[in-house]
Amino acid sequence: MTKRLKNGYFIYTFGCQMNERDSESLAGFLTQMGYEKVLQPEEAAVILINTCCVRESAEQKILGRLGELNKHKKADPEVIIGIGGCMVQQPGMSDKIRTSYRHVDLVFGTHNLHQLPIMIERCRQSQERIIDVWDSEGEIIEELPERSVEGIKAHVTIMYGCDNYCSYCIVPYVRGRERSRQPKDIVAEVESLVKQGVREVTLLGQNVNSYGKDLQPPISFGTLLQEVNKIDKLERIRFTTSHPKDFDPTLIEAMTKAPKVCEQIHLPVQAGSNAVLEAMNRGYNRAYYLDLISKIRQALPNVALTTDLIIGFPGETEEDFADTLDLLEKVRFDNAFTFLYSRRSGTPAAEMENQISDETKRERFQKLLKLQNKISLEQNEPLVGQVLEVLVEGPSKTNPDKLTGRTRGNKIVVFDGQEDSIGQIVSVKIEEVRTWTLLGNLEDTRP
Ligand code: SAH
Ligand code: SF4
Ligand code: F3S
Repeated sequence: MTKRLKNGYFIYTFGCQMNERDSESLAGFLTQMGYEKVLQPEEAAVILINTCCVRESAEQKILGRLGELNKHKKADPEVIIGIGGCMVQQPGMSDKIRTSYRHVDLVFGTHNLHQLPIMIERCRQSQERIIDVWDSEGEIIEELPERSVEGIKAHVTIMYGCDNYCSYCIVPYVRGRERSRQPKDIVAEVESLVKQGVREVTLLGQNVNSYGKDLQPPISFGTLLQEVNKIDKLERIRFTTSHPKDFDPTLIEAMTKAPKVCEQIHLPVQAGSNAVLEAMNRGYNRAYYLDLISKIRQALPNVALTTDLIIGFPGETEEDFADTLDLLEKVRFDNAFTFLYSRRSGTPAAEMENQISDETKRERFQKLLKLQNKISLEQNEPLVGQVLEVLVEGPSKTNPDKLTGRTRGNKIVVFDGQEDSIGQIVSVKIEEVRTWTLLGNLEDTRP
């Protein structure tokens, strides 16, 4: 039987990279308080769930998990069980947890995760349940704990919130308005990560292209990229997510001038039909998107492009869907993340008529997946025989005798090599390609 450690903590994280970054902060707070990470919830004295609610499926999974955690409370009533993050910010959710999940001690939202230490302290001393979810964002908290990073890659949040109100999306309601961090704080964070051995950072925000517009004086995202590009010993910079409507020519130019910025852009299109894009409140149409892609490809011929798509948005006709397939054929993304539309209460799309049946959504999803998988493989085929720059990450999970790393286009490469190259950039000649992986052999020289 596993033994519960008095100072063990365990965090479940759902959702996007921004949530993963938040969980790193939660872990940092717990470390400052003297807690230690354990590998299983059975060993933990504090168990937290950091939640997502972007789709209903996430929410159901989380509530299921939350219910299961009752067994830890039963085994040891002193265990502290907490839940925080996006799902909890929805109206009525904290009440639901209060009444239906009585084993939960601690509920906090996206705007007050920095209060975790005080909340845990109070909980320990008084044994009372603490439910504190703020309705709106406060100041940006820069005094987050130093985090300990494992590996050579790290995420850095550059802005919080979203102002776009796409009609299907819950994020603006649970994450609040757009707020940018000061460039000096971002640069300082990246510098400290580099000192810990990080070689690649991904700058995070729901819409990084509108970074800095709210600062005094305003600064553009392209300027921020150039600042981060100056950091010594940092090898690579990536960023996500980009919103097509704000991806302006100055950013394309900034990417060409900052050599550490990788030729890789995640540019969610969501749909290929003008009617659907309009109903989604995306702020661009198909012609604009296709034109943007051709401008990007002109400036960055080797760029790898990925996207997000929503299938079965209310009112999506067969014709609309055919427009999405057609757009995929035209753009030829390297990869696409496809989601079935999920009705989120409180968003305008949830109230729209003509909701699409699950069966139709699933049929369309299968068609789209088949097409995109074919395109992804075809996009990789010309890479055979090329020598690519790979930042080595470590042993391959599926094949531990080999090493794995990523190309500048963020494609996974599996190859034979020495462990002492971890954290370095090596040249790999691509011998074979699959839909999601490239296989190759080490070349001697750095490209
Ligand atoms: N800010 C980013 C990411 C938002 S969430 C962006 O604008 O792209 C990540 C993805 O989840 C979105 O791109 C969208 O494709 C998907 N998504 C958001 N709300 C959804 C919903 N209600 N149903 C299905 N997918 C959704
Ligand atoms: Fe949601 Fe749209 Fe904001 Fe992305 S840009 S987080 S999809 S509202
Ligand atoms: Fe989910 Fe919140 Fe991210 S709703 S996708 S965890 S911003």
